Amino acid sequence: MQPYYVTTPIYYVNDEPHLGHIYTTIAADVLARHHRLSGDDVFFLTGVDEHGQKVQQAAEARNIEAIELANQVVKRYESLWPELSISNDDFIRTSSDRHKAGVCAMWNRLLENGSIYKGFYEDWYCVPCETYWTETQLKDADCLEAMICPDCKRTVEKIQEESYFFKLSEYQDKLLAYIADNPDFIAPESRKNEVLRFIESGLRDLSISRTTFSWGVPVPNDEGHVIYVWIDALSNYLSALGFPDETENMKHWPADLHLIGKDILRFHAVYWPAMLMAAKLPLPKRVFAHGWWTVEGEKMSKSKGNALRPADLLAQYESDTLRYFLLREVPFGADGDFSHDSLKQRYNTELANDVGNLLNRSLSMLHKYRDGILPIVGEEQTQDRALIADIEAMQREVEIHLNNQAFHLAIERISQVVRHGNRYVAENEPWTLAKQGNETRLNTVLYHLVESLRLIAVQLSPFMPVKTQQMLEQIMNKDVIVEDLRFHDVAGWGLLESGHQCQKPSPVFPRMD
Ligand code: MSP
Repeated sequence: MQPYYVTTPIYYVNDEPHLGHIYTTIAADVLARHHRLSGDDVFFLTGVDEHGQKVQQAAEARNIEAIELANQVVKRYESLWPELSISNDDFIRTSSDRHKAGVCAMWNRLLENGSIYKGFYEDWYCVPCETYWTETQLKDADCLEAMICPDCKRTVEKIQEESYFFKLSEYQDKLLAYIADNPDFIAPESRKNEVLRFIESGLRDLSISRTTFSWGVPVPNDEGHVIYVWIDALSNYLSALGFPDETENMKHWPADLHLIGKDILRFHAVYWPAMLMAAKLPLPKRVFAHGWWTVEGEKMSKSKGNALRPADLLAQYESDTLRYFLLREVPFGADGDFSHDSLKQRYNTELANDVGNLLNRSLSMLHKYRDGILPIVGEEQTQDRALIADIEAMQREVEIHLNNQAFHLAIERISQVVRHGNRYVAENEPWTLAKQGNETRLNTVLYHLVESLRLIAVQLSPFMPVKTQQMLEQIMNKDVIVEDLRFHDVAGWGLLESGHQCQKPSPVFPRMD
């Protein structure tokens, strides 16, 4: 079995989960499920980022200990993920001992390899982004006078403190060479160019410890210092596998894919690979930065109170509908807008009308004309072979689209087959065949419809595990478990045997008003 390791960012615990957090996690889940179907040995990691000044301040504002705040938010995530059918193999907390051991091991490696030295930091810091800024960077972005962060435009603070530094400046050329040699390392292309511009503009050594607050992992042998939260957080991708121990799970390193939002690309595509180079560890194969969601045309923000909360969304929509919409509506990598109208419209057109209708009419006709029993196929005609060829092409192309994280194209390719199926019904008019007593042709058409639906459901199952479970129960039988399916066993045409009894259709995609 081929290992496949996919990660999400670990989410800060100063805020409740929102749309942005579920988006990346759903995307990672679809890939994890697809790779399990392919027979890969999947490790899918998500978790929380508990340390840092921002979290400490959020806890102070609530008059509680940071760990208490973290515990509360962790509970929310732990109950949320099953509701969204998230199939993560592990959940890493940065306050856990296993993670701290990984971070300290990483620190010690960097130290032993001569990549860390002690100095004095005197510049600016953005707490919401947990990012350092030089005076020149602020000036160049016209942010110095207002003392605001060039990224998030919130107030930056001046820091003057003793600090450890990571020799990031030594990695400028090595990173440029690595990115040139590995064209798939950073995606999408536009983001890669951003990273290249950033590196080319010059890398300065990175301050990697703080002394003015205490909520974090202490620097080994110098406890007055806390390790910079991004060094701490990035190490999660290794600590979760058991690093530095040679555990069984370490076979998953290097990660196949880090999925992240565009705002945290620099940390994943510059700092993290440089750290790994310094620690003499292999680099992740790919970092994909997705875009940001607005809500009904507006930027989501706590102050506006328009942040979409998963609990509210789940009260309104089924989880599979959300999963489908988020990945279908916007090309992964681009920014997009969440609107309730477009969600409903997409659901009604593509799911209720197209998939739901194909399922209902096919199974209804199978019951009406054959008591739900799959007939023996007669001689195939050109249009039957065209349907099968389309399905086989879909299977190959979905694979390619998902390898490129082009979720919307993968879904669109499946939809094409669904529309093809509905066209096939219209062209063959099974009701006319029945009236004419053309039993052989009717048998062939009914079989092709149901078998197509089975293969469509298998391809859709990573996106909509609950709905496709229902579809497959009606087509195959009650014992099907989508999570246990493997392409190797189920993806071939013609595996449903004649004589098989299908269930009566019951609506899987009822129309939404
Ligand atoms: N803790 C860091 C990540 C450390 S990974 C080693 C962090 N956490 S976060 O909770 O602030 O953000 C997590 C993710 O949410 C980021 O990838 C960010 O891009 C994403 N999103 C936040 N708002 C978003 C939208 N409005 N739309 C889509 N994604 C958004 O950063």
